[in-house]
Amino acid sequence: MENIIEIQGVKKYYKIAKREKGTFMALATLFNRKYETKKAVDDISFSIKPGEIVGFIGPNGAGKSTTVKMLSGILYPDAGTIKINGFIPYKQRKQYVKNIGVVFGQKSQLNWDLPLIESFELMKYIYRIPQKQYEENLDLFIQLLDMEDFINQPVRQLSLGQRMRGDIVASLLHSPQIVFLDEPTIGLDVVAKERIREFVRYMNQIRHTTIIFTTHDMQDIEKVCDRLIMIDKGKKVYDGSIQEIKNKYANFKSIELLLEDGSKELKTFDVSVTPMSAVMEQLFSEKKIKDITICESEIEDIIRDIYEGRVVLAQPEAERN
Ligand SMILES: Nc1ncnc2c1ncn2[C@@H]1O[C@H](COP(=O)(O)OP(=O)(O)OP(=O)(O)O)[C@@H](O)[C@H]1O
Ligand SMILES: [Mg+2]
Repeated sequence: MENIIEIQGVKKYYKIAKREKGTFMALATLFNRKYETKKAVDDISFSIKPGEIVGFIGPNGAGKSTTVKMLSGILYPDAGTIKINGFIPYKQRKQYVKNIGVVFGQKSQLNWDLPLIESFELMKYIYRIPQKQYEENLDLFIQLLDMEDFINQPVRQLSLGQRMRGDIVASLLHSPQIVFLDEPTIGLDVVAKERIREFVRYMNQIRHTTIIFTTHDMQDIEKVCDRLIMIDKGKKVYDGSIQEIKNKYANFKSIELLLEDGSKELKTFDVSVTPMSAVMEQLFSEKKIKDITICESEIEDIIRDIYEGRVVLAQPEAERN
């Protein structure tokens, strides 16, 4: 199958004005500005097939939002090529946006003074959504996201979770084929997160929408995404399935020990190096143990270890497609 998203060698460098210390120097820099270059995205490539749902993760400042902005045509790349659905986003933005939906969880795109429903009406007008399609989508989305109670309230009065659902609906009313969700679950409670996850899964499974999902919540990834792309410091460090990462670390087991004196200890080891029986034997001979719990490494633990540099992933595998 053809790729719907193809990005190759994409870079985005920001120029940041250097600040000098002291009032005089601050004034002087006004006339003679010095710039630093921040490599926000530094040579990223990947491709995505229609109907894929990809988790896009990485630590704060890794370059995720910058990438999403380039994918949605808000920013132009400094190098490399982006081709999505046959378009070059930043060059053919007007036609291109008809096929995409974008949500920035950290920044609402809704009008604060308008009741939510009027923002939706505005979208209908902007995107020239046929009345029938608009009504069908609106009814379905309101039902799936349980929004009946607050669609007539102005956006400024909405809670974060309500506002987020509003943003998601606004960006999907025109039935885009491709959706970029940049932290759509940020700051939401567990119930609200689950509702959004289900909705995203629905859009992917029933409508076959291609989705890129940025989040810091590994539950989002595990429950929603098939594939994971991880970036760090502007570079891609992993591209593959969640299962692959899990398999790779499947041999890492943690044992929580409760000792006779009531204290607890956590030991992590690789069972492919030291068999479980040997570990047990050693622990029981060395310590007075009251209870033990054996824990599998959760995806959260693995990802944290990668972010904090305790585990180094192999170089990104050769391009998948
Ligand atoms: N407009 C800008 N001007 C200058 N530097 C910027 C700008 N936007 C982002 N940056 C810098 O680029 C880097 C990448 O930022 P980006 O917002 O893409 O990260 P992110 O992966 O989305 O992080 P987070 O998880 O915190 O949202 C950061 O170091 C950030 O400070
Ligand atoms: Mg971001």
